[in-house]
Amino acid sequence: MGEIVRVQKYVAMSGAASRRSAEALIDEGRIAVNGKILTEKGAKVEIGADKVSLDGIELKVKNKNYYIMLNKPVGYVTTVSDQFDRPTVIDLVKNDLKDIRLFPVGRLDYDTEGLLLLTNDGDFTYKVTHPKFITDKTYIAKIKGGVSINGLNRLRRGIKIDDYTTSPAEVSVIDAAEGYVYVEITIHEGRNRQVRKMFEAVGSKVTALQRTKIGTVELGNLPLGRWRHLTSHEINYLM
Ligand code: URA
Repeated sequence: MGEIVRVQKYVAMSGAASRRSAEALIDEGRIAVNGKILTEKGAKVEIGADKVSLDGIELKVKNKNYYIMLNKPVGYVTTVSDQFDRPTVIDLVKNDLKDIRLFPVGRLDYDTEGLLLLTNDGDFTYKVTHPKFITDKTYIAKIKGGVSINGLNRLRRGIKIDDYTTSPAEVSVIDAAEGYVYVEITIHEGRNRQVRKMFEAVGSKVTALQRTKIGTVELGNLPLGRWRHLTSHEINYLM
């Protein structure tokens, strides 16, 4: 579902007139919604679904906001362009979403896969990434050998990495096979290479890392390298 806005705002977003002049256009009977001349100013429309026209010419909103979830594979950088010409996360969406300038929301390492958000809405990026609005992030770490119970408990209490002590993490071992253990870990900050450094600090090496959740928004069964629009429920929750 697209964003729902007042018709005046829609007209302003299309660039055809300011919000105030749009009111006058409505009074003059020059604005139509889905082919019907509009008679009241409080009407709302859904961007991308309803057709708004001025003097019979359809108005398009250019700055519609996009909120995308991508299942990032290993081997892609989380930037719009890369100085070393490596593939970027934008390469994975640009064929489907031509002409839309999307930006990654926060980052995942080159060698990390999983849930990455992309948007063209700066307010959204601010809300999801600013430390003042804490959004928990959940990862599954594949660890060679294992982690000691003591190590897991130290991660649960909070641990010093670089010059910083992490806040208590939620940690549980979810699987073990062929010399590896899989640990689900939820952290409350987003420091550079934080999960890898946390395990290093307890003597374990992360050999693969996947982000599965941001808050309650889950990657689910989105295939690797594919994207989907966030639902309006997910957008409202993250905002
Ligand atoms: N922690 C890491 O170590 N790497 C990431 O990409 C994200 C969190």
